[in-house]
Amino acid sequence: MAEPGELRVTSGRLADEEGQFEMTLRPRRLTEYIGQERVVESLGIFIRAAVERREPLDHVLLYGPPGLGKTTLAHIIAGELGVAVRATSGPAVERAGDLAAILTNLGDRDVLFIDEIHRLNRTVEEILYPAMEDFSLDIIIGKGPGARSLRLDLPRFTLIGATTRPGQLTSPLRDRFGVVSRLEYYSAPELEQIIRRSAFILDTELAEEAGREIARRARGTPRVANRLLKRLRDFAQIRADGAISLPVANDGLELLEVDSLGLDRVDHRLLRALADLFGGGPVGVETIAAAISEEVQTIEDVYEPYLMQLGFIKRTPRGRVLAGAAYRHLGLPEPRPQARLFEEYS
Ligand SMILES: Nc1ncnc2c1ncn2[C@@H]1O[C@H](COP(=O)(O)OP(=O)(O)OP(=O)(O)O)[C@@H](O)[C@H]1O
Ligand SMILES: [Mg+2]
Repeated sequence: MAEPGELRVTSGRLADEEGQFEMTLRPRRLTEYIGQERVVESLGIFIRAAVERREPLDHVLLYGPPGLGKTTLAHIIAGELGVAVRATSGPAVERAGDLAAILTNLGDRDVLFIDEIHRLNRTVEEILYPAMEDFSLDIIIGKGPGARSLRLDLPRFTLIGATTRPGQLTSPLRDRFGVVSRLEYYSAPELEQIIRRSAFILDTELAEEAGREIARRARGTPRVANRLLKRLRDFAQIRADGAISLPVANDGLELLEVDSLGLDRVDHRLLRALADLFGGGPVGVETIAAAISEEVQTIEDVYEPYLMQLGFIKRTPRGRVLAGAAYRHLGLPEPRPQARLFEEYS
């Protein structure tokens, strides 16, 4: 069986291309943004109201699993507001002074986008509180008894924060967002629409059934859908006549080891470990992580959310438990309930 990486001609060049690729496929307007209807509808209203009043939009927090379109949406919001966007990320802002410099350089009503906002350090975060609330900056001048605090006015701005881990935000920060939106996994028809749009932009011929099949296996995630499309485009070019037909899509997806529900090798290793090594659980996530040599955070952020969405894994106070649906998908016999009960008390 070939490694998925073999579909890549030269990995260096393709890595460049992935960033470029995401840029070309990124929708620019709210009307182009597929799915997330409730979020899009309410944001559309808030944006129009703010524009009409010539006020900045309230601060917006976007959260949800990776690749669902948080960064894309942040840029679209700025575009719809007709303002400039300054983008940075939690780990990139190291000192309070860095953030102060960014804030003082914003234009009136501009958007400041902070990706991975849960990773801001505390001293930097404290600068944000008065900035978000009163558009001001508190600076301490001098040291000791002679020190005094100076208040600087900032331009009015909109902070858009994105995070995959909303639970890690401190409550004073979370409370300062006027709009808090959770992005959901996309339905298969929505993903199909995204894939068709991407194929059109990439000038790739895509059969209708092939688009549907890729959508079914894209784990509810636009980034995965676009990446599968890109790899299948390579596959179609080298192994077929360039068009992505249903057989080409199926063969390519098999080569990529993406199963009928979009689960890949790591998902399978995780599920098999739960079934084979831990008798279906309950077992702690750290133990699972050690068994399959993955990081706890990667498991919690990337793999588990989709497996839980499928109802394959359940989180219990005593650890992760493998559900019956997962056994059926893996083609394994389900352990008898008595057996599991006995294990719990032994
Ligand atoms: N609603 C959508 N309609 C069409 N394409 C989308 C949509 N959402 C996301 N995409 C596509 O998916 C890709 C990934 O989206 P994006 O980078 O915005 O995700 P993200 O949520 O910021 O991910 P991360 O958590 O990793 O930062 C984008 O390049 C874009 O092409
Ligand atoms: Mg992002």
